[in-house]
Amino acid sequence: MLVIGSDHGGYELKSAILKMLSDRGIDCTDFGTDGPASVDYPDFAAKVAGSVSSGEANRGILICGTGIGMSISANKFAGVRAALVHDEFTAQMAKEHNNANILVLGGRVLSIEKGIRFVEVWLDTEFEGGRHQNRLDKISAVEQ
Ligand code: RB5
Repeated sequence: MLVIGSDHGGYELKSAILKMLSDRGIDCTDFGTDGPASVDYPDFAAKVAGSVSSGEANRGILICGTGIGMSISANKFAGVRAALVHDEFTAQMAKEHNNANILVLGGRVLSIEKGIRFVEVWLDTEFEGGRHQNRLDKISAVEQ
């Protein structure tokens, strides 16, 4: 299952991404926020990252104004690899090399079109494994 959340800075992009996911038939749970009113991004990062960390969801998307607060917050959760991406290359590498299980976007730094495109690239890219898995294992070891 895919879970998604944003603060007010990412609300508009989240709405557009939800439509794209629905068009592609991808099952998604939206943890909010549900409008443009000011909210605190750590609350929504906790919902999405907590769900991925517990194994309830296998992947997630988080959006705030810059993406910075969401990525800092999400990466506090065990087993979460949240990647803030800014272009198609970093969206691809986030999955291919880092096997990012949460994609993070900045709603105030990206156009809607680019944000949707980066999600598509991340969804459609496969993790390469091999030497990259060894590196992820070293990250996991730090969490123990
Ligand atoms: C909210 O104003 C803004 O600080 C938030 O969306 C995000 O950019 C934090 O990193």
